[in-house]
Amino acid sequence: MKIAISSDHGGNQLRQEIIQLLEERGVDYEDFGPKSDESVDYPDYAAPVSDGVATGKFDRGILICGTGIGMSIAANKVKGIRCALVHDVFSAKATREHNDANVLAMGERVIGAGLAREVAAVWLETAFEGGRHARRIEKLQALEN
Ligand code: RB5
Repeated sequence: MKIAISSDHGGNQLRQEIIQLLEERGVDYEDFGPKSDESVDYPDYAAPVSDGVATGKFDRGILICGTGIGMSIAANKVKGIRCALVHDVFSAKATREHNDANVLAMGERVIGAGLAREVAAVWLETAFEGGRHARRIEKLQALEN
C-alpha cells in the first residue's frame, strides 16, 4: 500500500508522529510537507494528497491540520475522495469497513499523539466490507456526477 501524507502548520508535529508510525510498519509513503512551521493554507496541502489518491497514484491519504476539519472539507471537494475526519478507534474501523474511506483526516489540536497513532494504525489495517456498503458507495459516486 502506498500512502500520501501532508499537513498544514497546525498539523506538522502530528504528521511527524504518523510518518514515524508508517516507517515502523514498513508502509511506503510520500510526504507532501510542509517543510517548515511557517503558516500555510491547508487547501494547498490537501490538494496533492487528494489528487494523488483520486488518480490512483496512491492507495490512500492522510491529512492533518489543527482540527482536521479544513483538510477534510478540502479533500472531499475532490472527485473520488471519501475523506473521514476521525479521532477515535471505533470510527477509524467503521469508516474503512462501511465507507471505504480513502483519506483519513485528524486534528493535531484535538487528539494526542498516542491515540492518533492507534487511529491511523486501525484505519490502515481495516479492509472495506463491501456487500451492502458497496451499493452506498455507488450512490455517493452518483452524487458526484
Ligand atoms: C490553522 O490555524 C487552522 O485553521 C487549520 O490548521 C485547521 O484547523 C483548519 O481547519
